[in-house]
Amino acid sequence: MKVIGFSGSPRKDANTDRLVRQVLAGAREAGAETKFIRIADLKISGCTSCYHCKTHYTCSIKDDMQAIYAVIHGADACVIGSPVYMGQVSGQTKIFWDRLLPLFNADFSTRLKKHPALVMVFTQGQTDTGMFKPYMENTKQVFGFMGFKTREIIVAGAMMEKADVDKQKDLMARAKETGAGLAEAELTAKAFKTDK
Ligand SMILES: Cc1cc2nc3c(=O)[nH]c(=O)nc-3n(C[C@H](O)[C@H](O)[C@H](O)COP(=O)(O)O)c2cc1C
Repeated sequence: MKVIGFSGSPRKDANTDRLVRQVLAGAREAGAETKFIRIADLKISGCTSCYHCKTHYTCSIKDDMQAIYAVIHGADACVIGSPVYMGQVSGQTKIFWDRLLPLFNADFSTRLKKHPALVMVFTQGQTDTGMFKPYMENTKQVFGFMGFKTREIIVAGAMMEKADVDKQKDLMARAKETGAGLAEAELTAKAFKTDK
């Protein structure tokens, strides 16, 4: 059972990293193998719309995304976190996101065989965590087309200093439980398959 966490925050070890890592910690404690990837540490450039991926199973741009495709195809679950920048995901996250186009066939059906579970994590400065809800809910549809099954969207508000999220004990507990839930659901499904 592999759970991969991505953080699209350029600020290292800040709220988005911490919250994504917390979900991973819950999954790990429940028996999953986890990996944490900071998108800002990857050398990746923006999609060029060449549509190479419509006739090939990968991207024409030979950068760090090549390894990421393999990681995602092997994942049972993913956690994708981003700070809210101007009401949307950070630029770093958006570049990563666009580069997921090779997960689609030419007819926009998914190439993902495992249909990984997905937890989305957003951190924002605003205290009202409902403020960007329509945008955040839309990610379910986008990632649904890609073949992911969104289980939960976690939103942390009032995140200005690097470690503000540590003060929100209930949210951190929920993030851990969400991670554990990811692992437990997958491990239970596997146990039932083995029983057959
Ligand atoms: C360029 C920029 C744009 C931002 N735009 C918003 C915004 O539109 N709404 C909001 O609530 N917070 C906004 N913020 C605050 C960040 O979402 C918040 O500080 C976030 O938790 C940062 O994540 P980090 O702690 O992982 O760096 C913005 C911050 C930056 C740097």
